[in-house]
Amino acid sequence: MSKICVIGTGYVGLSCGACLSSLGHNVTCVDINQDKIDLINRGEIPIMETGLKELVDEGRSKGLLSFTTDLKEGLASAEFIFLCLATPQSEDGSADLSTLMSSVKTIAAYLKPNAVVITKSTVPIGTFFDIEKVLQRPDVSLASNPEFVREGSAVQDFLHPDRIIVGATSEFVSQRVAAIYSGIDAPVLLTDPSSAEAIKHASNSFLAMKLSYINAIAVICELYGADVLDVSKGIGLDHRIGAEFLTPGPGWGGSCFPKDTNALLYMARSAGYKFGLLGEAIEVNNVVQKRIIERILSSLDESISGKRIAVWGLTFKANTDDLRDSPAIQIVSALLGLGAQIRCFDPTVRVIPPAIRQAEIVDSVESSCEGAELLLVLTEWSQFSQINPIAIAKKMTSKRIIDCRNILDPDTWSEAGFQYHGIGRSN
Ligand code: UGA
Repeated sequence: MSKICVIGTGYVGLSCGACLSSLGHNVTCVDINQDKIDLINRGEIPIMETGLKELVDEGRSKGLLSFTTDLKEGLASAEFIFLCLATPQSEDGSADLSTLMSSVKTIAAYLKPNAVVITKSTVPIGTFFDIEKVLQRPDVSLASNPEFVREGSAVQDFLHPDRIIVGATSEFVSQRVAAIYSGIDAPVLLTDPSSAEAIKHASNSFLAMKLSYINAIAVICELYGADVLDVSKGIGLDHRIGAEFLTPGPGWGGSCFPKDTNALLYMARSAGYKFGLLGEAIEVNNVVQKRIIERILSSLDESISGKRIAVWGLTFKANTDDLRDSPAIQIVSALLGLGAQIRCFDPTVRVIPPAIRQAEIVDSVESSCEGAELLLVLTEWSQFSQINPIAIAKKMTSKRIIDCRNILDPDTWSEAGFQYHGIGRSN
């Protein structure tokens, strides 16, 4: 078993550290945020992630997992160092590597000889060699080992991945890194560093394009009276296409797809290639939200100003409390701009996010609908599909619903007197 240091305790670093300790490794997680480390050391978890608390508690009780702000202590005997730092989007669309690179500069002085620095963060293709230049430690090796975990199911995805990708310039280093995962049953692909970095970008952009494709097909279905749910099922049965990531919605968001698609587009542009296919996928994603606003306008007789709208769901998808780049926030913000009065309910959000501060947050689906003329479903929380429409109908002044996730049963809601609209469906 290995001594590992994980730098950064965001959703990638924290789940990575906890999962590696569950494989039997001795892991120290380091973060510069003292409050966060104190919170974790008190036994709390700063993010909503299924199964993470159990793994952290287990790792700590076995003496295999610890958390500190002391980088020197974390690196003292580490054989492997995982970089799990944020790479947000810059103004020009490129990835901002300042945090990552400043961390690389800092760790250079403390790494023990023969250590391996492994990049888990999503980075532009070629970053491996930039890190090598900044590190200036010929006695230390580097590897790229991108993560493919989804927020909300990060533990499950880490321990049961579809594949493990390791990019390095030496077979020996690749094998050392792959051996960290020997307790996991998954195909392992050893490749060169740039290909490993490209695999991560190509995967995220492909998934985003797949989603934009089904969102565009949803528009076609609306225009020609087809039902996108059946269409999606029908095309997903072709194993070459696959059934996943074919659920239409209010557009893809979150902390990864928007920044990663823009970063790949920027990389293409910088190298003189016009990646129109990806650019169009991003554009389709912007148009999805405009169409939803138009649908709301037409449902409210072309006037939104002063109208009360109930919103169910603010997070960028269900089973997370993450609001970053959430389509729901973007839609609510646009509606506020048009003068709507909005009351939101989300199972994980207790304080109104600053971007939509004129909206109100309430603690039940029922109170969000009080006096509303329209109900808008923006996140696919499964509990929404269990709600009794009769109780909701009594609260609203007008029974209209736009279900942007197609999670409610149109028949049940129509029987309760609602004018139901889904996405990509003829109703
Ligand atoms: C995504 C990738 O799925 C992970 O493989 C990757 O590791 C991660 O980014 C990352 O780069 O760190 P995540 O951002 O957690 O994971 O979110 P997804 O579950 O992929 O969903 C992204 C967006 O697509 C959400 O807004 C979601 O609502 C939307 N979506 C997803 C749909 O609209 N329909 C679907 O069928 C699936």
